[in-house]
Amino acid sequence: MKGIILAGGLGSRLRPLTLVTNKHLLPVYDRPMIYYPIQCLLNAGIRDIIIVTGGEHAGDFLKLLKNGKHLGVKHLEYAYQEGEGGIADALKLAEEFADRDKVCVVLGDNIIEGNIRRAAGDFFTQRSGAKLLLKEVPDPERFGVARLDSPGRDARIVEIVEKPKQPASNLAVTGIYFYDSDVFEMCKDLKPSARGELEITDVNNAYMRRGDLTFEVLDGWWTDAGTVESLFRAASLVARGGANHTGTPAPNEGSLFVAKA
Ligand code: G1P
Repeated sequence: MKGIILAGGLGSRLRPLTLVTNKHLLPVYDRPMIYYPIQCLLNAGIRDIIIVTGGEHAGDFLKLLKNGKHLGVKHLEYAYQEGEGGIADALKLAEEFADRDKVCVVLGDNIIEGNIRRAAGDFFTQRSGAKLLLKEVPDPERFGVARLDSPGRDARIVEIVEKPKQPASNLAVTGIYFYDSDVFEMCKDLKPSARGELEITDVNNAYMRRGDLTFEVLDGWWTDAGTVESLFRAASLVARGGANHTGTPAPNEGSLFVAKA
């Protein structure tokens, strides 16, 4: 399985910080935001990674991450997204890199406390389709929200609505997605949403309609970090010892940090 980190966008909700660098290079406690999605993939045993970025500061990624070897990444590639086409548009740029393998897509501003290794293992044995990671949140209207057909363990997702005014549940769709190689064809069929972007929620609903969508609910905390409030929250959560954070200072060189089992 290959790893795709989507780290584009203009970071307009974090201006003026993002006038001088890419949002995903801003600090979250003692290390750059992009370290967390990289660690998330490494923890799942995924060491072939592409970073899709864009904007004026794309070169800053290379200065920080170089070829990724010092962080434990086996193979690191970069792709450049022109303009602001949305998550599903950015994903299209990783098609050749994926080379018909299954992929784990992580939004570069998503940070989790735990480990996706088990979910990745489950998806590895899933014959086809997609798997989502959901998380209960107090403010579902900020996210894609899943409606389930029942409360039990065998529940299935019957609909996902992007930023609903009246959410059907408190289950947000986190920015960690597992897809088979069909995802790239599905992205090509999308039409831009009202905000002018190709929405990842439309891809997920297409898998749902095929009857090929599974999900798990994440253990531990999850947060995005794309606004002033959520960036501050992310730093506070990490400072309290989560996100596989060992409490040791951020390495200048050498490995990222020791993964929690
Ligand atoms: C995106 C997705 C949304 C998802 C969220 C997770 O939202 O569109 O479905 O819940 O990431 O961080 P955006 O960050 O584009 O507002």
